[in-house]
Amino acid sequence: MDSYDVAVLDGDGIGPEVTGEALKVVEAAAKRFGFELNTTRYDLGAQHYLDTGVVIDDATVERLRSHRAILFGAMGDPRVRPGVLERGLILKLRREFAQPVNLRPVRLYPGVPTPIRDLTPQRCDLVIIRENTEGLYVGAGSTVHAGTPHAVALQESVNTVAAISQVVDYSFRLAQQRRGKLTLCHKTNILVHAGAMWQQVVDEVSRSYPAVELDYVHVDAMCQHLPMTPERFDVVVTDNLFGDIISDLGATIQGGLGVACSGNLNLDGTAPSMFEPVHGSAPDIAGRGWANPAAAVLSAALCLATLGQGQAALACEQAAAAVLAELPALAGPAMGASTTELGDRMADRVTNLEIPTTPSIMTAIAAV
Ligand code: IPM
Ligand code: MN
Repeated sequence: MDSYDVAVLDGDGIGPEVTGEALKVVEAAAKRFGFELNTTRYDLGAQHYLDTGVVIDDATVERLRSHRAILFGAMGDPRVRPGVLERGLILKLRREFAQPVNLRPVRLYPGVPTPIRDLTPQRCDLVIIRENTEGLYVGAGSTVHAGTPHAVALQESVNTVAAISQVVDYSFRLAQQRRGKLTLCHKTNILVHAGAMWQQVVDEVSRSYPAVELDYVHVDAMCQHLPMTPERFDVVVTDNLFGDIISDLGATIQGGLGVACSGNLNLDGTAPSMFEPVHGSAPDIAGRGWANPAAAVLSAALCLATLGQGQAALACEQAAAAVLAELPALAGPAMGASTTELGDRMADRVTNLEIPTTPSIMTAIAAV
């Protein structure tokens, strides 16, 4: 029987609540599809930092490295200065574990309310692939004459052919498994150095994928097209900061943070990939059973997909979607069921539902 070692970093706030339900659902999938998940919980996050003064030590990073995948809940607490956990943990792991691809599906599931008028699930099924280790996120730059009227702040965007090539190649391979269209999103008219490099890599790699149709959209125009004509897009590839911004727009279109999932993918097998709901730790509703576990469940499904368990991943996705369709509200007391009850319902669906043959992001990822 296939067995996978998975690290669980459930974190703070609603992180442990939704991660617990996600585990319930993927365990049900493992049982049905005949594989094993061997999970190890790590005590990291705001509370660990407040207790020890250390975000994560090198020995823990190395222990984490030995796992096949990481399920990440949510981290953050008002008592911790903003940026400490973001840079010290999330960005650190994305870089340490060489995860150049940040994959963020934007799929409107049936019955999920969207703020976009007349949008239908058929018209909204795309994937944003964000470069995950470079760009403006490297923190390169300097400040001189700080605190004076002559202060100068330089913030540099780092772009390498090596990382862009990996991300772009993965994007083409994924597009090939889907509807066969790739859109580069950038600002090549203004960011002439980085933009030229991205465009050049895309053009070059595209020669190996003649069946994939290429498109280009400036990032500002993307903010119009994405909500108005999401059907134009299949796979969208973009840089780190643009991807951060447009994926929040994508999350809004698909019904909000209760359903937005993501995966940070390591492509060379040297370290684990890491899967996280896009939402944060929501300390204001922690402990009340008001959090929707769907985003965590869908993130865990992405994890199963990258492990090659496409049918199990599809079952988890379908189960989450079926339960979402029944909810009067996506979170809070109006949801009509607690976090745990929703997890139970999803796990039950995973065990019993008939698996459809319709294509899905889950089976596409498993086939890449
Ligand atoms: C995200 C988040 C992170 C990012 C933060 C928490 C560092 O906004 O995953 O999109 O900016 O990448
Ligand atoms: Mn973000």
